[in-house]
Amino acid sequence: MNIPFLNLKAQYESLQSELLPAVQEALASGHYILGPNVKAFEDEIAAHVGARHAVGVNSGSDALTLALRALDIGPGDEVITTPFTYIAPAESIHQMGAKIVFADIDPKTLCLDPSEVERRLTDRTRAIIPVHLFGQMADLDLIRKLAAPRRIALVEDCAQAIGARQGTRAAGSSGVFGCFSFYPTKNLGADGDGGMVVTNDDEMAKKLRMLRVHGIERRYFHDLHGFNSRLDELQAAILRVKLRHLDRWNDRRRAIAARYHAAFKGLPVTLPFTAPDNHHVFHVYAIQCERRDELQRHLEANGIPTLIYYPLPLHLQKVYADQGWKEGAYPVSESTSRRILPLPMYPELTDEQVEHVAKVVVEFFR
Ligand SMILES: Cc1ncc(COP(=O)(O)O)c(C=O)c1O
Repeated sequence: MNIPFLNLKAQYESLQSELLPAVQEALASGHYILGPNVKAFEDEIAAHVGARHAVGVNSGSDALTLALRALDIGPGDEVITTPFTYIAPAESIHQMGAKIVFADIDPKTLCLDPSEVERRLTDRTRAIIPVHLFGQMADLDLIRKLAAPRRIALVEDCAQAIGARQGTRAAGSSGVFGCFSFYPTKNLGADGDGGMVVTNDDEMAKKLRMLRVHGIERRYFHDLHGFNSRLDELQAAILRVKLRHLDRWNDRRRAIAARYHAAFKGLPVTLPFTAPDNHHVFHVYAIQCERRDELQRHLEANGIPTLIYYPLPLHLQKVYADQGWKEGAYPVSESTSRRILPLPMYPELTDEQVEHVAKVVVEFFR
């Protein structure tokens, strides 16, 4: 049995009858940029997250960049984030001319470790970007306790965690900004690029709406140094259809995770840990083990290709060679990079496919 690591075609096939009329309607409307679908989708996301405002942008990366720009972060400022993630949050800090300050991750949740964040605070720290990695929220209670008294802004990177909760709070609803990606592989993925910033701050929402269209409030009058970063009508129309399925898809991801979990109990692997109070939406289901590369080859030989993320923590990437970060600086991120192995995880996986993946993993350790 061959099991693709991702299968976006299967998602399309399951939704074709809903997607095609929505796309057709958007095409026929003659309105392609910042029209009724974007507005409606923004309202729907704001309601889903429980935030006052949602502003559609071109990607999750732009969501982070516009959020930092809205905070007027620039040279001389420091922003703390994790080195064990996709590069976008670090890139957004660098684009502002601010200093990237990495703090190591918690070995259990793989999200920012609040005590490591505390060690890295200085009087130049302007913002913290916790990444809700693999579908689980970072410990925002503790991070907020560090940030609030120092007036440090929290910018939540929710790219992998739409629908996740911590207690009663949804991902994206606690920080000044919650930044979402609709990259096709995300739990809510467009058929192209897309992103969203949510906020409860009226002034910040207004600023974001200006920043995404070249800093204008009134056409051809530019008040801010802006960007061209808009969500397309077509993508918004597609995302509106998919949003109706998100909760069900996240439930299915959680059910698959529970099945993997039960099958792998007792194996010499570290299973994903869900912090108490967290509602995990399993964007990624990753196990960790010492013989990771061998296990990956065993899976591949049995028709189950996998993809390692993240194989090299950000502080060791070539692009940051001039920053002077050395191996050993962030030991938890480094050891996680060597041990991590994401397994196939998407709602369209059949029970039979899930059982097969579990069986092939278990066989390896026999
Ligand atoms: C944690 C994280 N942040 C930000 C991004 C950037 O999103 P985008 O690809 O939409 O720019 C991604 C993924 O793509 C991500 O995984």
